[in-house]
Amino acid sequence: MAKPVLQIIIASTRPGRVGLPVAEWFRDRAAAQDAFEVELVDLAEVNLPFLDEPNHPRLRQYVHQHTKEWSATVERGDAFVFVTPEYNYGFNAVLKNALDYLHHEWQYKPAGFVSYGGVSAGTRAVQMLKQVVTTLKMVPVFDAVSIPFVAQLLDEEGRLRPNDVMNGAADTMVAELERLSAALRHLRPAA
Ligand SMILES: Cc1cc2nc3c(=O)[nH]c(=O)nc-3n(C[C@H](O)[C@H](O)[C@H](O)COP(=O)(O)O)c2cc1C
Repeated sequence: MAKPVLQIIIASTRPGRVGLPVAEWFRDRAAAQDAFEVELVDLAEVNLPFLDEPNHPRLRQYVHQHTKEWSATVERGDAFVFVTPEYNYGFNAVLKNALDYLHHEWQYKPAGFVSYGGVSAGTRAVQMLKQVVTTLKMVPVFDAVSIPFVAQLLDEEGRLRPNDVMNGAADTMVAELERLSAALRHLRPAA
């Protein structure tokens, strides 16, 4: 049987973003567990305009090609990990826009969070994000990767140098996503 697909969604689109090396570290860590087919989904590449669909997304009557492509991408996912910065105590607007575009595509799939920032490690952004993803019937996993003072973990080439706490948290979260994605699959309409 094909492995389920874990999509790692990079929320930050800022030039020089920390989100990219954080997501690359997490992708490699998750892929090593071999439970999922792991994909990086970079919202900078997805490049959606501000929501410009005339119909509510639950109707799935998309008129724009960019929405149809975004729908097909998210539909493919069996579990998500949102790699999110904290901007002004919340998650960033690009991610909110990307979430709002779709409806059924997100449902009954587990969501994990890798957050980063200063002393709060992006945890305030995650609290806000949980409120939104549950409205879309995603199921957030409790176990998370929270990275404080992320800038101190970057080397001269801009790569993330993880510590043992981060690696352990990542493995725990992926294991939990695997359990939940198997359970939730039964609640989703057959493809
Ligand atoms: C608009 C803006 C708001 C920010 N607000 C917060 C904040 O509320 N809490 C925090 O810990 N860091 C905050 N920061 C610092 C970010 O944690 C840091 O810039 C981080 O690198 C942002 O992620 P990114 O590089 O992936 O975009 C903010 C940064 C920006 C650009």
